[in-house]
Amino acid sequence: MTLLDFDPIDPAALAAAFPPDFLWGVATSAAQIEGAAFEAGKGASIWDHFCRQPGRINDASTIDVACDHDHRYPEDVALMRRLGLDCYRFSFAWPRVQPLGQGAWNEPGFAFYDRLLDELLAAGLQPHATLYHWDLPQALDEQFGGWLSRDVVPRFADYAAEVARRFGDRLASVATHNEPWCTATLGYETGQFAPGHKSRAESLQVAHHLMLSHGEAIQAMRAVTQTRLGIVLNHTPAFPATPTEADRRAARLDDGFNVRWYMDPIFRGAYPADALAHAGADAPRIEAGDLARICQPLDFLGINFYTRSLFDADGRLVKGPGRRGFTDMGWEVVPEVFAQHLVRLAREYNPPPMFITENGMANADRVVDGRVPDRERIAYLSAHLQALATAMQLGADVRGYFYWSLLDNFEWNSGYDKRFGLVHVDYATLERLPKDSAHWYRDFIAQHRARR
Ligand code: FCB
Repeated sequence: MTLLDFDPIDPAALAAAFPPDFLWGVATSAAQIEGAAFEAGKGASIWDHFCRQPGRINDASTIDVACDHDHRYPEDVALMRRLGLDCYRFSFAWPRVQPLGQGAWNEPGFAFYDRLLDELLAAGLQPHATLYHWDLPQALDEQFGGWLSRDVVPRFADYAAEVARRFGDRLASVATHNEPWCTATLGYETGQFAPGHKSRAESLQVAHHLMLSHGEAIQAMRAVTQTRLGIVLNHTPAFPATPTEADRRAARLDDGFNVRWYMDPIFRGAYPADALAHAGADAPRIEAGDLARICQPLDFLGINFYTRSLFDADGRLVKGPGRRGFTDMGWEVVPEVFAQHLVRLAREYNPPPMFITENGMANADRVVDGRVPDRERIAYLSAHLQALATAMQLGADVRGYFYWSLLDNFEWNSGYDKRFGLVHVDYATLERLPKDSAHWYRDFIAQHRARR
């Protein structure tokens, strides 16, 4: 079976399932779309550096140009306005505004975000910012070993406070980190992401420093802004491959490292005991008072959801049955898990209001006669929105949804080969073409708006 074997959901009925003030948006990140990698005083990031190492990126591409959003942002904002969106989630590139990650600020870098915010607000779009979507200033990696060092924590808090001081009154929300699990695990344990290290001990130490930097940044920003503050976590719920006790244990342990390793310190002030015990000698160095500094009151929780994972007794990943098929990333499509997981979070953690800060699919899209007929994406989107509505009926307090992504863009170590956008990008001309899914989303939002 594939996504196309399921009947499309009627957009009018679906729209009626969401409260009138529910917000619709799209998400992007700086490194994936901006380009202008070495312009206007921007410093190098660890991704600028990583892309230049042979063998790191599947299509050997760089982010020097990406979608050229830095120059084309007026066109991109106009596209969003035409889709009828309420809000836009983007990230600040730290090395664009502070090239070395400490010391001097780069005024032309701040001026870019100033123009972007003006453009968004003039188009009636609420800006939701993320401070760290993986593009650490390369200089911090060279001087300190990046997030391995506790010395990066106060520098991140300084950067957060500066962005909040300058832009807080124009931002609808600020998230400290995007997906710290990815920064720590893919960057320092599996080596797929920058800076490409392979050590579990390093990864867990990095995760702790990310958590600490989150708590410190929240406190630093509270002092200078009234805007809503939070964090964005990626959750890939873990399931046992077979209903045996051994498989269940493996899935529970993965849940400890993917979900609870971040949720527990942030909302309960403690790391999960089972995962910590399993870490053994790889457990991070934690100083007295750290957990209290991490556990700060938040105004929102951002959840990114794409798929689930299945584990066998030895903790190995097993391919799921794919009842609704798989995306072009090979990720199993499981909207029912999305609903179930949101309800779990609501029951177990009683979190602040949640936003779905990312959800979407990569698809092998093609332009056919000036159109992109991406029926799979429409099916994915509508199935996940239906699951979201179900979760909300069952008690999950979710206030908005951001599709990942506005544009096809640089998908990290996959390069430009994986297309997640509602809008197709021709990388030879940088021309934007809204896909059928963009039209579907626009019509769906219009149906919802008609009920407001
Ligand atoms: C998430 C990232 C985002 C994008 C999507 C597909 O993990 O936050 O940048 O790459 O996956």
